[in-house]
Amino acid sequence: MRTPIVAGNWKLNGTRASARSLAQSIVDGLSQLHDALRVIVCPTFVHLGEVAEVTAGTPLALGAQDAADQQSGAFTGEVAAPMLAEYGCRYVIIGHSERRHVYGESDTLTAAKYAAVQAAGLTPIYCVGETLEERESGTTQSVVARQLRAVRDLLGDTCFADAVIAYEPVWAIGTGRTASPEQAQDVHSFIRGEVPDAQSLSILYGGSVKPGNAGELFAMPDIDGGLIGGAALDAADFLAICAATRMEQ
Ligand code: PGA
Repeated sequence: MRTPIVAGNWKLNGTRASARSLAQSIVDGLSQLHDALRVIVCPTFVHLGEVAEVTAGTPLALGAQDAADQQSGAFTGEVAAPMLAEYGCRYVIIGHSERRHVYGESDTLTAAKYAAVQAAGLTPIYCVGETLEERESGTTQSVVARQLRAVRDLLGDTCFADAVIAYEPVWAIGTGRTASPEQAQDVHSFIRGEVPDAQSLSILYGGSVKPGNAGELFAMPDIDGGLIGGAALDAADFLAICAATRMEQ
């Protein structure tokens, strides 16, 4: 039995006021949805305080978009996982393709961030996924396996026991080009095979999920929910995507 999860990645968007009002609209809409679903929003660091005031005491969970690989010290510009915990964050997105590909973060740094998040008692939402070039050259599975191995080599076989994995093909993120349900299912089932004891691991799909395609993606047996970018900025769209999850995974 796996928990269906929908997480909104708000990326570099919003103001204090708009972040607060988006969170409030989602909290208001959640009462219409089934209880088994876990819904998470990940605003920018500087909006966490505003959003935490809205989500406190509600079923809407708070997450961050990244965390430092270090706990404290002379690391200008970084935000550490214990600081995020203090704001009420329970989840942290790690290894998003924009961190890997726009900011050039390596597998090694990404794995160290993952370790720092778990050490602070938070749950990583670990993103993996191939570029278009990698897909076209037939290396999707080896890329995803390498990204999973980076964390496992550092932390051992149990590293995904308390984690969420998000499969996000880079070519589908923010492009309006979604992986077909079958393409996504193939990689999800591959990931489940690569991770020890993965029957209870929630594996999310991300990449241009919209209300119109969420249902067919979430109907696949190994897709346990979604990591949502653009559509997470509109409360009605985000709630419609939440409503498309299956109760029984
Ligand atoms: P998108 O982003 O839904 O806008 O494609 C997904 C993500 O980057 O997590």
